[in-house]
Amino acid sequence: MTGFVWPLPSADVVGDLPDGGTLRLRAPVDADLDGLVVSGRDASSLRFTALPENYSRADAALFLRSMRHSPDMMLWIVDDPDNPGHFGGTLEVRLVNRPAATVELGYTTAPHLRGRGLMTAVVRLITEFLFDYGVHRVQITANPENVASCRVALGAGYRHEGTLREAECLRGVWNDLELFAQLDGDL
Ligand SMILES: CC(C)(COP(=O)(O)OP(=O)(O)OC[C@H]1O[C@@H](n2cnc3c(N)ncnc32)[C@H](O)[C@@H]1OP(=O)(O)O)[C@@H](O)C(=O)NCCC(=O)NCCS
Repeated sequence: MTGFVWPLPSADVVGDLPDGGTLRLRAPVDADLDGLVVSGRDASSLRFTALPENYSRADAALFLRSMRHSPDMMLWIVDDPDNPGHFGGTLEVRLVNRPAATVELGYTTAPHLRGRGLMTAVVRLITEFLFDYGVHRVQITANPENVASCRVALGAGYRHEGTLREAECLRGVWNDLELFAQLDGDL
């Protein structure tokens, strides 16, 4: 355990998948743009995130650029475990409160890799990494109707702390958000 460091080291984060495969979180490259577009156009991504409709390569390129220069967000690409070097998803870490060493996760799994435990493994891996770098509290918020996202948080060992009422406004609709968190002392 070390003191809290922000920005975090942006090196690859590597671990194991439950099926024995290798899980790799890596820096984005231009070749990820196509995968970002496919993910960004997927119906559940559109339903549960603030992505624009008809998500384009230009939107994806702007997203990568803005993440590169953001003072309070970091992005890793989840490498496709079946096809190393290809896009398998995104993992964002957002700084919530520096003095409280608190960050929040955001994530997407590429549609062709969903439902096989990938994001649960990613969240477990990055949470361990974050605690190694002095993070005290990691949060996840999800729409209660986003069952897969809530299951990811619980499956990765997060505790459900409550419901934030109308904490999000997406395309003119107010949504409650379930709040999940893990503390470094919970491990
Ligand atoms: C949410 C998301 C990242 C989950 O990724 P994933 O790699 O498929 O997740 P996992 O395979 O680790 O599944 C986790 C759990 O969700 C369940 N699950 C997966 N898809 C589901 C679905 N469509 N409906 C209900 N449960 C689902 C799995 O069965 C698993 O449950 P378990 O732990 O009880 O076995 C993915 O569905 C996604 O990218 N959605 C669109 C973007 C999004 O909603 N991001 C989160 C915003 S808060």
